[in-house]
Amino acid sequence: MSTKKILLSGIKPTGRPHIANYFGAMRQFVELQDAHDSFYMIANYHGLNTIQNGPEMADLTLNLAIDYLAVGLDPAKSTIFKQSDVPEHAELAWIFDTITTMPYLMRAHAFKDAEAKNKEISVGTFNYPMLMAADILIYDTDIVPVGADQKQHVEYARDTAEKFNRIFGETFKLPEPKIIEGVAVVPGIDGQKMSKSYNNTIPLFAEDDEIRSLCMKIVTDSKTPAEPKDPDTDNIFALHKLFSADQLAEIESRYREGGMGYKESKELLAENIIKFITPLRERRKEIAADPDHVKQILKDGGEKARARAITKMTKVKEKTGLSF
Ligand code: TYM
Repeated sequence: MSTKKILLSGIKPTGRPHIANYFGAMRQFVELQDAHDSFYMIANYHGLNTIQNGPEMADLTLNLAIDYLAVGLDPAKSTIFKQSDVPEHAELAWIFDTITTMPYLMRAHAFKDAEAKNKEISVGTFNYPMLMAADILIYDTDIVPVGADQKQHVEYARDTAEKFNRIFGETFKLPEPKIIEGVAVVPGIDGQKMSKSYNNTIPLFAEDDEIRSLCMKIVTDSKTPAEPKDPDTDNIFALHKLFSADQLAEIESRYREGGMGYKESKELLAENIIKFITPLRERRKEIAADPDHVKQILKDGGEKARARAITKMTKVKEKTGLSF
């Protein structure tokens, strides 16, 4: 048996992935796949909370699989699969629901945010952390690479593992989040956390014109080009940190001394993003040309993941007395 640590993560197929998904999560997925027994999932059961249109869901899911491959996930190293190809995730989530209280789930940030905005919350959204706990715990996952916004969800998974183990006896391993400092929360073009739901993203595979036009929309204060600027509070500079590593020291001193206008800074950022994205976009086009191959990768990954999940569920069903 492999002695590699087990890693699992996922992204919801709810829109085009953006540069914050890449720096917060996908880049780590690629870096970690050699040294770990890795599972990368397309969280389509979670996605159903927002995408309730069959053809759209199918299209977003296939496209996210293409994105995974384009950034460098390799099916020879990682298990790449659709969450719904392993229905045991939903089965385990149900079992977790039975040992979880409403007040505990009501403390989740995502639930509190939705409630504060007076949104009508689906039961699926309310139970979101239990399905995510099942995703993670069903594979005996050691490490969950994510952005900072998912930290609490990994804590919910740990708590749930502990609670189940306390009630039914040692069954689940306690997972750890892996969050990279500096990219834990990548800001969007309006300065809030970059998020598909805030409409403030720069898509990871955007075309050049789209990148330029989004960069020009980045929100800044109203300082003139000659005035000194604070790189620590500027949204353009926050993105330079990701895309302009070689020029960062120079940009920083020009900000502090004055003389670099926001327009110039945005134009430079756009060109650096384009340089970074162009090869990824080209690779994506090649992969997208053969959708049957991508579907086959998902099918193979789903079968591999499911075999592991079924083994774990057999134990869970014995412990809970559901099978005997
Ligand atoms: P999702 O689809 O919202 O986001 C995918 C990944 O991108 C990271 N991310 C960010 N990182 C830094 N700055 C940002 N502005 C930013 N926005 C998004 C997220 O932290 C995440 O790592 N619940 C998960 C999907 C999921 C999952 C799982 C993840 C379902 N089951 C099990 C790990 C393990 C989600 O909604 O991610």
